[in-house]
Amino acid sequence: MTADQRDELVAAACQARQNAYAKYSNYQVGAAVRTRSGAIFQGCNVENGSYGLTVCAERVALWSAVAAGQQQIVSLAVATADGVTPCGACRQVLAEFATDIPIFVVTVSADGTTGVRDIGLQELLPERFVAKHVQ
Ligand code: THU
Repeated sequence: MTADQRDELVAAACQARQNAYAKYSNYQVGAAVRTRSGAIFQGCNVENGSYGLTVCAERVALWSAVAAGQQQIVSLAVATADGVTPCGACRQVLAEFATDIPIFVVTVSADGTTGVRDIGLQELLPERFVAKHVQ
């Protein structure tokens, strides 16, 4: 992956964050996944008045890629105000479609500047449960 490709994915996550529907937590999250074809799919968190129905940005992005017939995920960017890593549920869902991909964790400052740190899915979810156990 080139620096330009990384920057493009980071920008897509930041842009998606603008669409976050986070009226209960007021915590906006944007995500973007790149698939093997090079295409980028975006997601934002979508909350619900029945709180448990909320879906994270990462899963929205991932499911969008799968819905478009693109299951091979090669990288993910997630953008928040404080640079958090994907939640446990999203890590597990991502692990269905990827082994050890780079995850770009983006911190979006109030002035719009961004900081990026790169962490691997394997580091975030070692000893994972994988489909071979149920096939
Ligand atoms: N959220 C995400 O979108 N991704 C994560 O990895 C963690 C949490 C969302 C869910 C909810 O809308 C808000 O952040 C607060 O939990």
